[in-house]
Amino acid sequence: MSTAKKEVKRVTTHVLRAMKERGEKISMLTSYDFSMTRIVDEAGVDVILVGDSASNVIHGHETTLPITLDQMIDHACAVVKGAKRALVVVDLPFGHYQGDSRAALKSAIRIMKESGAHAIKMEGGEFIVDSVKRIVSAGIPVMGHLGLMPQSIYKYGTYTVRAKEEEEAKQLISDAKSLQKAGAFGVVLEKIPRDLARQTSEKLKIPTIGIGAGPDCDGQVLVLHDMLGINKDFSPRFLRRYANLFDVIKDAVSAYIGDVKSQDFPNEKEAY
Ligand code: KIV
Repeated sequence: MSTAKKEVKRVTTHVLRAMKERGEKISMLTSYDFSMTRIVDEAGVDVILVGDSASNVIHGHETTLPITLDQMIDHACAVVKGAKRALVVVDLPFGHYQGDSRAALKSAIRIMKESGAHAIKMEGGEFIVDSVKRIVSAGIPVMGHLGLMPQSIYKYGTYTVRAKEEEEAKQLISDAKSLQKAGAFGVVLEKIPRDLARQTSEKLKIPTIGIGAGPDCDGQVLVLHDMLGINKDFSPRFLRRYANLFDVIKDAVSAYIGDVKSQDFPNEKEAY
């Protein structure tokens, strides 16, 4: 198959693989609703992740654990409607796949059937290999997620960089290979040393997408609300802020309040 770049109408898992083969970086962002998705998709992002980070940035929970499968499906339905070009990947939420590959398949099927999404993502290595195989065998593309896995935050106790020690680094590479063998089409590498992310990316045929994993991954992902500066409380070193929408929105809302109070809004032209 030729890997030459063509204008793609819809990004697929095959397109991502071809991008890795020709060294073209993959852009991925989270989105959780229709309006934001239209903007992100029109800008040309390759992959939109309906991340379980919705638990934090949309629902206000401290961790990703409380978000439910129904809530993820609601977000996914809205995102699918807004995404014309990007591949839409949806996180399987905590409690809907761990330790039970049949439950994992059931959750994945619900997401695909009820939302129209194109793929699912799951956190974990060798422990989820049976689930990955089962889901892939049902025709559903699966993306893995290694390194810092926020659904396991109570096991780690902290959000610091993972796999700095040799044993955990070796395990991560072995997990990544197992996910690839099980049929995963890509893997997110979160908050691991740059060198380990490079080695992992070199060893895999499937693309790696980094977040806090340095420049040598095959692509990058950020949480939309963090990179747009809507969420001001989160400033890890890996995060580049492309806008300061918290202040932009606050200033606009303050101006509106002022105009309403002063009776400047609505004016003659804005009335019927
Ligand atoms: O839920 C999410 O936003 C994610 C990204 C951080 C990769 O999993």
